Amino acid sequence: MDKLVIEGGTPLRGRVRISGSKNAALPILLACILARGPVRLANVPRLKDIATTLGLLRLLGCEAEQDIAAVTVCVGPDLQAQAPYDLVRTMRASVLCLGPLLARLGKAVVALPGGCAIGSRPVDLHLRGLERMGAKFNLEAGNIIGQCKRLKGAHIHFDFPTVGGTENLLMAASLAQGETILENAAREPEVVNLADFLNACGANISGQGTSIIRVQGVDELSGVDFQVMADRIEAGTYMVAAVITDGELYLEGCSITDLDAVVYKLREMGVWIQEGKSGVLARRGTKLVGVDVMTQPFPGFPTDMQAQIMALMGLAQGSGVIKETIFENRFMHVQELVRMGAQIKLSGQNAMVRGADHYVGAPVMASDLRASASLVLAGLAAKGTTEVRRIYHLDRGYEDLEAKLTNVGARIRREEQ
Ligand code: UD1
Repeated sequence: MDKLVIEGGTPLRGRVRISGSKNAALPILLACILARGPVRLANVPRLKDIATTLGLLRLLGCEAEQDIAAVTVCVGPDLQAQAPYDLVRTMRASVLCLGPLLARLGKAVVALPGGCAIGSRPVDLHLRGLERMGAKFNLEAGNIIGQCKRLKGAHIHFDFPTVGGTENLLMAASLAQGETILENAAREPEVVNLADFLNACGANISGQGTSIIRVQGVDELSGVDFQVMADRIEAGTYMVAAVITDGELYLEGCSITDLDAVVYKLREMGVWIQEGKSGVLARRGTKLVGVDVMTQPFPGFPTDMQAQIMALMGLAQGSGVIKETIFENRFMHVQELVRMGAQIKLSGQNAMVRGADHYVGAPVMASDLRASASLVLAGLAAKGTTEVRRIYHLDRGYEDLEAKLTNVGARIRREEQ
């Protein structure tokens, strides 16, 4: 198992190219199951989760390859219905093949994802929505077994604007008979990117980006060339990297439109952010102050940026409260940050962060993807050496992390643990 060794204290300066979005690419890759011709996707990041998804697609009977320029997916003549536990266990997003398989084959056998480090993460809303469209589910030996004739359009009101649930239902409804209305749907930009992809394949979806999405089912979707959106969470993470090291980074290939809530909070903290022609410039302003942050569904502050802003607030003047409302157990980074000198107290959903003068390098343990990112950020700012262990989480979600950071001056290397 590898670890990252970081010598902190160097201001990061220069340009970082923002990769394609992992959270947009994963559902789009699984949506390829719905298409009758080859799909060519540009701007797909080279990440562990992408490789796992391509592996899943191949297991299901698709051709799926990634080269430097693009990913190509083509459904073969013998599409299979089963996503085994070993794959679903390593990547929860595999559950997003449920909707496409039911729509295309009338059958899906998908291992029920277990809990994960950040909480229980149920899929009941996905299943209830698909049931309203005519699917029937049984749970056998840890597998969700779904069956249906052709899915029928339905009126579905989500109890919560679930991102994964909205994506599964969007894919299923694209090939259903008649109209599906998704109310209280997720408005995340990655959901919009999926809907745009499906429309490019011939689907008839409107209202994406609002909480009411309408889908007129069509009989067939075709292959297409499509470009995946930039990763807004990677962009937000590098903004924090610029500020926490007192440097200046130009993030190429992203815009602040999808990052409104993050940019708003960073500016409130005193960060200087400016949108340029082909990207965004971020650096520290005259002073950095603590603020209150609450994670919420889009357009609120994203849960995927909570750990990173906490690392930054740990070095701001004054204090602030970070409230996590999406996941019940997404504060695993707190105790690790405390080991580096952060002053954070937890109380239920709230983390009270009091700014410290500096962090001190220490060996720390990564627990999930964004928690790992927050520890790297703290390490970049810390006095001395930080060792971040269990970095396989980072490999799931940040393309070329060490290379990108090294190019802008960080002293970071990967070593075998
Ligand atoms: C969530 C985040 C998404 C993030 C991703 C990875 C939100 C709204 N969603 O998406 O931004 O990129 O994690 O970190 O911020 N829930 C149920 N039943 C369901 C589905 C969800 O109770 O069937 C609950 C979950 O337990 C959770 C909340 O709804 O508390 C949000 O879940 P959802 O948006 O579905 O999660 P992801 O799709 O994983």
